[in-house]
Amino acid sequence: MELYSPDTKAHDEARQGEAFTSNSKQQSFEKFFYVESYGCAMNFADSEVVASILEQNGFGSTREIERADLILVNTCSVREKAEQTVRKRLTEFRKLKYQKPGLLVGILGCMAERLKSQLLEEEKLVDIVVGPDAYRTLPDLITEAGTGQKAVNVLLSRDETYGDIAPVRLDGNGISGFVSIMRGCNNMCSFCVVPFTRGRERSRDAFSIVAECRDLFERGYKEVTLLGQNVDSYYWNNPETKQSVTFAQLLESVALIDISMRVRFSTSHPKDITDEVLHTMAKYYNICNYIHLPVQSGSTRMLQLMNRTYTREWYLAKVARIKEIMPDCSISTDIIAGFCTETEQDHEDTISLMQAAEYDLSYMYFYSERPGTLAAKRYKDDIPEEVKKRRLQEIVDVQWTLSNESNKRDVGKTFEVLIEGDSKKSSQQWMGRTSQSKVVVFDKANHSLKKGDYVQVTVNDFTKGTLLGAVKNN
Ligand code: SAM
Ligand code: SF4
Ligand code: F3S
Repeated sequence: MELYSPDTKAHDEARQGEAFTSNSKQQSFEKFFYVESYGCAMNFADSEVVASILEQNGFGSTREIERADLILVNTCSVREKAEQTVRKRLTEFRKLKYQKPGLLVGILGCMAERLKSQLLEEEKLVDIVVGPDAYRTLPDLITEAGTGQKAVNVLLSRDETYGDIAPVRLDGNGISGFVSIMRGCNNMCSFCVVPFTRGRERSRDAFSIVAECRDLFERGYKEVTLLGQNVDSYYWNNPETKQSVTFAQLLESVALIDISMRVRFSTSHPKDITDEVLHTMAKYYNICNYIHLPVQSGSTRMLQLMNRTYTREWYLAKVARIKEIMPDCSISTDIIAGFCTETEQDHEDTISLMQAAEYDLSYMYFYSERPGTLAAKRYKDDIPEEVKKRRLQEIVDVQWTLSNESNKRDVGKTFEVLIEGDSKKSSQQWMGRTSQSKVVVFDKANHSLKKGDYVQVTVNDFTKGTLLGAVKNN
């Protein structure tokens, strides 16, 4: 499917946005905003959309908070701790507000959507509250707040995708970029606040996605990650031709931009990832061999209470199918310990599923009840905190062993690594990633390599979470 014809309307719009952005970089701004982002990659991508909207309205971005006329915090509500982190951070802005009369503080994202104007009552220093679908109104809200009034817009939309806005890349390494392909979620997992903070699922215009990816490639990017809460349910209907585009077709179109640009995606819901997607991954060399496939629990009883719509057996069959189609595909997951009514047996089921799936990596959490979710309404949060934490630690320990074993299997193998920059520990070493998303560190030696290059690296050792290697000499 040809999705990257340069003469589409969406493409032109995205390009106009880019031209404006690069012009505006040369222009000297009189006002500056500082943005800090928390939560998932989608929030970080949203901050780049916000930066674009603000630049077009005369605000330049700054990384020096003292210089800012507007401080924005793009927030996450997924667990209570994420909200506490933001509240603590807000207290640190008090002094700045006192020192700089007229300084505005705005809360964006999921916490803004969840708490709405209540946030203004609870956090007196906040001037602006904007939900994830209302960023286009931010310039008006800033004007309103500038007159001393508090400004709020938390309206959710059924069709906002910001598809026509060319994001301003903030803080990136210039090699890997995030591209949002859809917004919201229709899944209603019982523990999850996201459907309430992000609204209904909607897919972005496929042409604008491909145009944005192509634009990144032309600017020297070597990797794009397509983002959505449930990318496999991506489905866009072209209003002009009435043709539809599935996630597999979109993935193929992005892969076809250039073989030297890697393509990743996140997150896949196990119920929606299709054979068509797996075959597309296997067909294109530049679609990375890595799938993040959150399981949440290894107990079918828990999965039912969580409203995940699959069983333990069904999930393991999906893992087997992935390995059958792509034997060297790496798989990671998300796990929640101590969900409502979880027994020791349910917990053991999670551990045995982890061992069966041989995860390379897991993101592990203990259950945090979120107001308004189905679980908060229906079930008692009845697992004591010390039990949740003990189970979580056991899960972390199992994953530690699995990751170690996975890394051990890589010793002696040679991988193509995309260099992302200097290693954290030494400017004498490069840090890059394999297609399987594993971090590799290796000596620069005398090779004339640079950031963004691909290089063959043979793994000879590993530390916690990192493969160590050496450039393979031909
Ligand atoms: N959309 C993804 C999916 O289908 O799994 C995940 C999105 S969610 C933002 C990221 C992860 O946070 C979830 O996979 C889950 O493990 C975790 N999470 C969500 N709600 C949670 C809660 N109430 N307590 C603890 N962890 C939670
Ligand atoms: Fe939350 Fe489930 Fe949607 Fe993921 S799929 S965002 S866990 S409701
Ligand atoms: Fe957090 Fe919202 Fe993402 S709740 S994880 S920032 S969608």
